[in-house]
Amino acid sequence: MMKVTNNIISPAGHISDLLPDQNKPRVYIETYGCQMNVADSEIVLSILVENGYSVSHDPKQADIILINTCSIRQKAEQKVFKRLDVFSRIRKNNPGILVGVIGCMAERHKEQLVNNFQVVDLVIGPDAYRKLPDLIKEAGTGQKAVNVLLSHEETYADISPVRMDKNRVSAFISIMRGCNNMCTYCVVPYTRGRERSLDPKIILREVDNLTRLGYKEVTLIGQNVDSYRWKPKEKDIEISFSGLLEKVAEAVPEMRIRFSTSHPKDLPDKVLSVMSRYNNICKHIHLPLQSGSSRILGLMYRGYTREWYIERIKAIKKTLPGCSISTDIITGFCSETEEEHKETLSLMEWAGFDFAYMFKYSERPGTKAAKKLNDDVPEEVKSRRLTEIIELQNKLSQRAKTKDINRVYEVLVEGISKKSENDLFGRTSQNKVVVFPGKNYKPGDIVKVRINDCTSATLLGEPV
Ligand code: SAH
Ligand code: SF4
Ligand code: F3S
Repeated sequence: MMKVTNNIISPAGHISDLLPDQNKPRVYIETYGCQMNVADSEIVLSILVENGYSVSHDPKQADIILINTCSIRQKAEQKVFKRLDVFSRIRKNNPGILVGVIGCMAERHKEQLVNNFQVVDLVIGPDAYRKLPDLIKEAGTGQKAVNVLLSHEETYADISPVRMDKNRVSAFISIMRGCNNMCTYCVVPYTRGRERSLDPKIILREVDNLTRLGYKEVTLIGQNVDSYRWKPKEKDIEISFSGLLEKVAEAVPEMRIRFSTSHPKDLPDKVLSVMSRYNNICKHIHLPLQSGSSRILGLMYRGYTREWYIERIKAIKKTLPGCSISTDIITGFCSETEEEHKETLSLMEWAGFDFAYMFKYSERPGTKAAKKLNDDVPEEVKSRRLTEIIELQNKLSQRAKTKDINRVYEVLVEGISKKSENDLFGRTSQNKVVVFPGKNYKPGDIVKVRINDCTSATLLGEPV
């Protein structure tokens, strides 16, 4: 299936092309957390397939189960601990199965996983995936195998991922790893280490692989894409994110390009102007606000104020009229007052976000906030504030969608609607989901659709 050319595994293809092979050990991977983890699972699979493994879609049929984990909030970790119980039961009936915990929880819970979970044979952090084949062999001898070393260099640049998306329409490319910001609430710098960017040549190689595999959309991902930087040699000119975006947009004019996440402190006008110049760069920006209060933003070490964020939104609206904006909000951060909560609500209302991910603050042991600040907003207050935030966002999303009625959008079809076999679903450039009747179209097609109605989460329309 895979060809190795000049030590580059290329192109690895799609998981559904990998035929079941009884003669090879079978690996089953389950992925939690953000897009970075999804992209990492695709790298892991590529490494294993290259080393003689085949794929299983059922943990009960597998020889090795890997669970790629997330630590961002306590709930994310609890989910994984519950899954380990399930795998433990599976293993009772199939004692030969090996179970590995990989990803962000491996960094944080190495000792607990090794000492308290009999079912766990391997614990492997995000920068040690190349060692997987050796570590699996080690675990096969009955020893627990562990490697959670973080690296300043590892980017898996030479490894072309095995794509695992459902529809073969849209894929991710990790353009950087790690994070150098130290938001006081966040575990990512501890679980993923220092920031590293990928060579633009490698990114363009992957974009090219995707076009050859028939993909129509690519999302460039990183924890803070605006700090992407590539400078191979001292005398070379540095390439920033806006430069990379432009290169990708030019290389594949037929492909849609998205990116995530933009950091409000770093989002430059240059990125906005590149977006405005290329039709194939989607008009959507995910710009996590976290809080509308400058005092809370200061305690979070976010590096911007309420006023700065407002100015960035104004710049987006000026340069990119019609661009959608989504956000992340954390409610109930240490010492947040009722007034400060209201500042978040008023800023949300002013910005009119199209979409938001909204969370209660979850203290993460080891972070600056856990060490220096008091998680003193009572649980019931966090819950009530979260409800208010969600209710407001529902209203804003509804308002934004109502404005779309009677507009015509180009929709990239991703698949058949979950609710009705006769309907397709896809996304607009603004990342809004559209459902429409479409027997004559297939995933990957771009269809002009007139919007005639909406539900809370979806636009409904008819092809024109
Ligand atoms: N790098 C991105 C965010 C990655 S984590 C950025 O800086 O915007 C995704 C989101 O999870 C964050 O934006 C934040 O809203 C939320 N989050 C992170 N840590 C959290 C915590 N301890 N409690 C609650 N939500 C958290
Ligand atoms: Fe976490 Fe902040 Fe880095 Fe985002 S920018 S991953 S919130 S430390
Ligand atoms: Fe979770 Fe790690 Fe991503 S903590 S959000 S999987 S970087």
